[in-house]
Amino acid sequence: MTKKVLIVYAQPEPTSLTRQFVEATVQSLQEQGHDVLLSDLYAMRWKATFDEQDFPCRADLGRLSFIKESGHAYSTGRQTDDVVSEQQKLLAADAVIFHFPLWWFGLPAILKGWIDRVYAYGFGYGYKGKGNLYRYGDGILKGKRALLSVMVGGPEADYSPLGINGPLEELLFPVTHGVLFYPGMDVLPTHAVYGAAHLAKTEIATEIAVWRKRLEQLFEEAPIPFRRQNGGDYKDNHILADHIAFGKSGLLAHVDTSDT
Ligand SMILES: Cc1cc2nc3c(=O)[nH]c(=O)nc-3n(C[C@H](O)[C@H](O)[C@H](O)COP(=O)(O)O)c2cc1C
Repeated sequence: MTKKVLIVYAQPEPTSLTRQFVEATVQSLQEQGHDVLLSDLYAMRWKATFDEQDFPCRADLGRLSFIKESGHAYSTGRQTDDVVSEQQKLLAADAVIFHFPLWWFGLPAILKGWIDRVYAYGFGYGYKGKGNLYRYGDGILKGKRALLSVMVGGPEADYSPLGINGPLEELLFPVTHGVLFYPGMDVLPTHAVYGAAHLAKTEIATEIAVWRKRLEQLFEEAPIPFRRQNGGDYKDNHILADHIAFGKSGLLAHVDTSDT
């Protein structure tokens, strides 16, 4: 069945590995018969900073309260056109794929700025004006899939469970869990390519073939089993229940591995 897939990417150089992956993604999805939506953040000259220009019709001219102004602009139809257009793409998409190089253990600033601005109050958080009622598994993007494709300069060993940089799934946890699962998306395990700056042509071809194979399962692959806020694992929607938390701590306690 034809699906809509939004690709959001943050690398301006056409010969970069990130961009080679974006090309492969577009090709593969189109070959599968899917519709592709693109957000090429550098080409769009995406405004990365969230500031007073985001609120042309302020609720309070005396003090710039981002959450209050964001909710006001969203609920009264006074957001900037670039933000509205990205929200519409997200709502239209069945899946969202993010392509980016790992910069300082996280997202390039332009992509972080896309999240800061597109995730308005009432949209990315505070859904239906109900504070934290809908989050972590419930929200405006429920039913959609999300996948990070990240190019990593360092070797895989540095990102392994005891690697010096820390495990990649934990470094990117604020994105997979905090940004994507938060408004309800099903998040697939991150796809990483290590040693990305120094791959030989043949290695790149192999990596792209592996990625294309994975994309064939975009709508079948099991998501990361993050625990849902409203699924009974949390006390008062805040803290893991004692029987769940027993012997656990840290970020990965929020992943339900009981079936594995
Ligand atoms: C500003 C900047 C920050 C970087 N930070 C990291 C990092 O934290 N960890 C890492 O392994 N590589 C880091 N790198 C290397 C990039 O991840 C690498 O150049 C990239 O994955 C290559 O893919 P590309 O051709 O798509 O840019 C950084 C590079 C730049 C320019």
